[in-house]
Amino acid sequence: MKAVGIIGLGKYLPKRILTNQDLEKTVDTSDEWIVTRTGIRQRRLAATKEATSDMAIRAAIGALKDAKIKTEAVELIITATTTPDMQFPSTACIIQSALGARRAACFDVSAACAGFVYALVIAQQFVSRGVYRNALVIGAEKLSSIVDWQDRNTCVLFGDGAGAALVAPVKRGGIISTYLGSDGSGGDLLLLPGGGSRHPATHQTIDKRLHYVKMQGNELFKLAVKIMADAAHKALKQAGLSCKDVDCFIPHQANLRIILAAAKRLGLDTKKIYMNIEKYGNMSSASTIIALCEAVKCGRIKKGDIVVLDVFGAGLVWGACVIKW
Ligand code: UT7
Repeated sequence: MKAVGIIGLGKYLPKRILTNQDLEKTVDTSDEWIVTRTGIRQRRLAATKEATSDMAIRAAIGALKDAKIKTEAVELIITATTTPDMQFPSTACIIQSALGARRAACFDVSAACAGFVYALVIAQQFVSRGVYRNALVIGAEKLSSIVDWQDRNTCVLFGDGAGAALVAPVKRGGIISTYLGSDGSGGDLLLLPGGGSRHPATHQTIDKRLHYVKMQGNELFKLAVKIMADAAHKALKQAGLSCKDVDCFIPHQANLRIILAAAKRLGLDTKKIYMNIEKYGNMSSASTIIALCEAVKCGRIKKGDIVVLDVFGAGLVWGACVIKW
C-alpha cells in the first residue's frame, strides 16, 4: 500500500457576488439575521449559462497546473456533486472530455456536502493499491440552480463554486486516516424530492416546487454539531492523534455556529479553524476543497502540518480525514 496525498490544488469561484443586502430586496430577511444566525455575508453565483462542469473544469486545470501533471496523464476523475450538469452522462465524463483526459476512468459521487471527503477516500483506495497512478478529485456545485429563491429558510445559505485536488503517491506525509458514516433514516431532513424516479418532472411537481431544496434546518443543526465532532474525533483517534496535534481544521462550511459548537465539543482551539463561509456561504461538496485550497495558498497550511477535513450533509452522510501536509 502506497502513501497517498494531495499534490495539487485548484479552485474556481464565479464572478457574481450576491450580498445579504441584495437578498433583503427579494425575500423577508435581513443582513443582521443572516450574519448572526449563519456567519454568511455574501455568496458567489454562477452565470446563467455556466454549469457545474464549467466551474469544475477551471478548478481542475488549476489543480493539474499546481501538480505539474499533464491532462493526458490523469487516470481517474471523480466528481462530487449534488448539482450535476444533467442526470447522465456523469459530470466527471463531461469534465474528462473538455480536459482531453482520454485515459481517465470517470464517475460522480453523490454524498452531498460530504461529497469531497467521500471522493477523496475513494481515490485514496485506488491510488494506494496502485490501480491508478493518480486521481483528479473534484467538488463542484451550482446550488443556485436548485435553491428556491422565494424560500428565505434556504436561499440565504447557499453559493456556487468548484475545487479540485490531484491525488497521487507521496514520499512523506499524506492521508493518515479516514472515517466515513451515514444514516439514511435522516434523509427527510434535507432533500430535493423532484426530478428523480420517485417524482419525475411533471407540471404538478413544478407547481409544488419539488425541484428545489427542502430543509429542516433546526434538526440538522443539532445533528451536525454532534456528528461532526464525533467524526473528527474518530479520525484523529485512528491516526493516533488528538486535537492538540491539529494545525488546521477545515470543517464543512454550513453555518458558523455549527462550526464553533462542534469545535467546542471537540475541545479544539478555534484559532486552528479555517473558514470562508462569510465570503461564499455553503457550497456543499465544493466548500471543504475550496477552503483547503485557500488555506494552502495563503500559507495557513505548511509542510508537515496536520490538517483535518470534517464534513456532514444530506443523506445523512458524514466523514473526516486526517492529512499530514
Ligand atoms: O450543509 C449541510 C447541512 N445543512 C446544515 O447543517 C444546516 C443546518 N441548519 C442551520 O444552519 C440553521 O438551522 C439555519 C441557519 C438554517 C436556521 O437557523 P436557526 O437558528 O436554526 O433558525 P430557525 O430555523 O429555528 O428559525 C428561527 C426563525 C423562524 O421564525 P419563527 O418561526 O421563530 O418566527 C424562521 O422563520 O427565523 C426565521 N427565519 C428567518 N428570518 C429572517 C428563517 N430564515 C430566515 C431568514 N431571515 N433568512
